[in-house]
Amino acid sequence: MLFSLVVYVLFSVVMCQNDNKTILTRKLPDGMKLGVASAAYQVEGAWNVADKLPSIWDTLSHTPGGIKDGSTGDDACKSYEYYKRDIQMIKFLGVDFYRFSISWPRILPSGFRNKISDDGLKYYNNLIDELLANNIEPIVTIYHWDLPQYLQDLGGWANPMIADWYVDYAQVLFETFGDRVKTWITINEPKQIGLFGYGMSYLAPRLNAHGIGEYLAAKHILLAHAKAWHLYDKQFRPHQKGTIGITIATDFRTGMTDSPEDILAGSEAMDFEVGLYAHPIFSKTGDFPESVKRRVAERSKEQGFKKSRLPTFTKEEIVFIKGTSDFYGFNHYSTRFYTRNGFKSGMYPIPSYEDDLAAIYSYKDYKPAAIVHCTEIPEGMRLALKWVKDNYDNPPVNIIENGFGTLGGQQDYDRVKYLTRYMDAILDAVEIDGVNVTMYTVWSLMDNFEWANGLSIKFGIFETDYGNSNKTRRPRMSAFWFRNLVATRILDPYRETEFQKLEF
Ligand code: NOJ
Repeated sequence: MLFSLVVYVLFSVVMCQNDNKTILTRKLPDGMKLGVASAAYQVEGAWNVADKLPSIWDTLSHTPGGIKDGSTGDDACKSYEYYKRDIQMIKFLGVDFYRFSISWPRILPSGFRNKISDDGLKYYNNLIDELLANNIEPIVTIYHWDLPQYLQDLGGWANPMIADWYVDYAQVLFETFGDRVKTWITINEPKQIGLFGYGMSYLAPRLNAHGIGEYLAAKHILLAHAKAWHLYDKQFRPHQKGTIGITIATDFRTGMTDSPEDILAGSEAMDFEVGLYAHPIFSKTGDFPESVKRRVAERSKEQGFKKSRLPTFTKEEIVFIKGTSDFYGFNHYSTRFYTRNGFKSGMYPIPSYEDDLAAIYSYKDYKPAAIVHCTEIPEGMRLALKWVKDNYDNPPVNIIENGFGTLGGQQDYDRVKYLTRYMDAILDAVEIDGVNVTMYTVWSLMDNFEWANGLSIKFGIFETDYGNSNKTRRPRMSAFWFRNLVATRILDPYRETEFQKLEF
């Protein structure tokens, strides 16, 4: 670590009086663990070392025009090579845990378990051991979007067989790392996988099979998740004694106004966007939400389909999926406001998920963030947490992602303000609404490959210098802010955030 003697003290960055709410100095609840996150394809690089075969993201980033800024994850942050440096950065923050993901094609190059890569196992064994040696808990996401291309060629998440392929892969991880990994996340953000990758063309594999692909993927993701949970529960939990759950993008959706029509549009948007994945697992009844079943069935009929485009679960499958998460993994960035006023058939592709929902949305007059899905609306964080508590019987909520994307800059006042206000909203949810938040995770430890946006969008509390072949890292002001929060466990908007020039 290079250390410059220059120490800057910057003005307190957070307005204490903000949008009619005075932020007070507050203490974090004792049990809430703090950490940072990343994902394999976004940071590792080393896309073709040893026997690794391509994932769907290698394929997309190597396709001309696939990524907005033309970048790839071939090198990304070079974490495969320099993982020890990542751990030094995490140590510097002083957090309790590091959430990272394992690359399926690095462990099982073709996707199947007939060939397990020794190099792949070695890399993650080293990473986990080094974290533990530094007193940092490893929290592992089994699947964070980098599907082996070979499995995609066989249909990927649209093929029902994927539940078996996925569980074979998960089993290798439980067998190999489960003696040391005690928190598993089965699948990261099912909506983004299915809707953006299969229903639309925003993420890999860009199928654009709207109105069909997203629903097929939703069903198979839920079955794959549940199979892995049951396997862990029966065969591994008794001696490994860990926990396992799914993480769902739980951005808040609500009505544009307080009219009953808008309130309904907002709550149905929440059913389509969150409930589709959460209801089968966390509700008392299981299965997809009623409003989604009804709307997709009606539209499918009008469109001449013989059956609903939303696949059904058998009674056994409903029971099999229900209750299969030890915690509610909660990712959250922003809030959208919905209305059916102004919606016209033909605005969206037919059939499509948006057409099935039949509503339009905006961020109202909130100041749009450079990355629109990070538009700062902290009250939505509180409402989303309360929605989970009220709908799913107050489960333990692990906040697995929350963060702010920018176009760069080391003195990231905006990010510190966003994180402060969102933590304040979380504390409201805990103290006033009684939500059981057990974990909070900043996305992300460092700038990394932001999927279709490539390297140009920056989510890191550490800056990554891509121009440098070592991908040097420098803590941003937000890293110092988080480090202080971790050390003091006090959210203090009046405190001046110090900033030093450091390099890792
Ligand atoms: C959610 C995803 O899990 C993560 O990979 C992504 O980088 C962040 N959102 C920011 O967009």
